[in-house]
Amino acid sequence: MMNSRIIGTGGYLPERVMSNQDLEKIVETTDEWIVERTGIKQRHIAAEEQSTCDLAEQAARQAIDAAGIAIDSIDMIIVATTTPDRVFPSTACLLQRRLGIHGCPAFDVQAVCTGFIYGLSVADKFIKTGASKRVLVVGAETMSRIVDWSDRTTCVLFGDGAGAVVLEASDQPGILSTHIHADGQYSELLHVPAGVSFHHAEFKSGKIGIQMQGNEVFKMAVNTLGRIVDETLQENGLDKSDIDWLVPHQANERIIKATAKKLRMPMERVVTTVQTHGNTSAASVPLALNVAVRDGRIQRGETLLLEAFGGGFTWGSALIKY
Ligand code: UT7
Repeated sequence: MMNSRIIGTGGYLPERVMSNQDLEKIVETTDEWIVERTGIKQRHIAAEEQSTCDLAEQAARQAIDAAGIAIDSIDMIIVATTTPDRVFPSTACLLQRRLGIHGCPAFDVQAVCTGFIYGLSVADKFIKTGASKRVLVVGAETMSRIVDWSDRTTCVLFGDGAGAVVLEASDQPGILSTHIHADGQYSELLHVPAGVSFHHAEFKSGKIGIQMQGNEVFKMAVNTLGRIVDETLQENGLDKSDIDWLVPHQANERIIKATAKKLRMPMERVVTTVQTHGNTSAASVPLALNVAVRDGRIQRGETLLLEAFGGGFTWGSALIKY
């Protein structure tokens, strides 16, 4: 059976930076509170005319350049997003058009903050079965469009951005395993309580945004991520000390530190971008991966553990020989 290897990474953050001080002018909050409770100092916000697909395209092109491949050799496109450009077609189809690719399957995955791990898992399965050879997997979000900017308990957390990888079939080790889970019974703890066919009028008014029982989500995230770390190591017969880099979902520095502690990893081996990106949902893991690949921290041959937890609840991990 073939393996799937990451042959290129890319990332894109919109130009506009919103600092905690900027937020102090919008809601009753302080830089001190946000930094102490989350680690976040700033986040990027898409320009009015920028869509999720615009962000996705930038990240995708960078990943394709890094891979050094012809765009038309991509034979599948997966976009993980909670904030698609349109109800339909999928953002993946819109991205396919931008990239000038015709005919290959293109579809979105909706698993909120775990979306990229879901996308990676699907892509890996297609490559392992021989159905695909080169898959573009993108996590892209304009979370600023679904944030309730009057709710200080959530609006300080999120940001916009996109990250991407190109996966290729290889006889060398690459993605060693992926693990994805969901439990819909917790859907009300973190959600936008309206949509196309539910509370449609409120949805159309545009007044409904992200709602979260932060404390409950926090506890569930810490416990669940601890469990998925164990599951991933166990399945691969590895020890905690075999992991070179933890590339976690960037929701809250305190959650990241709890997972690192569980892995007995010093924070120097953990990639964190939450301070400057905020929580970019499906984009957060590929953005963090891209940062650490490009600044030279992550080297070929190293073992990476990617993990995420988010609305649904959904959660997942990927163990990668980079
Ligand atoms: O990506 C998907 C997964 N998402 C997550 O994993 C997020 C999980 N949750 C969290 O990260 C944290 O729960 C938060 C950062 C959202 C909140 O931190 P917390 O330590 O759990 O705070 P809290 O919700 O218990 O609130 C503590 C206090 C409250 O005041 P009282 O009731 O103690 O008087 C809040 O009203 O902090 C208040 N508060 C704020 N104060 C200043 C809440 N938001 C703010 C704010 N600025 N922005």
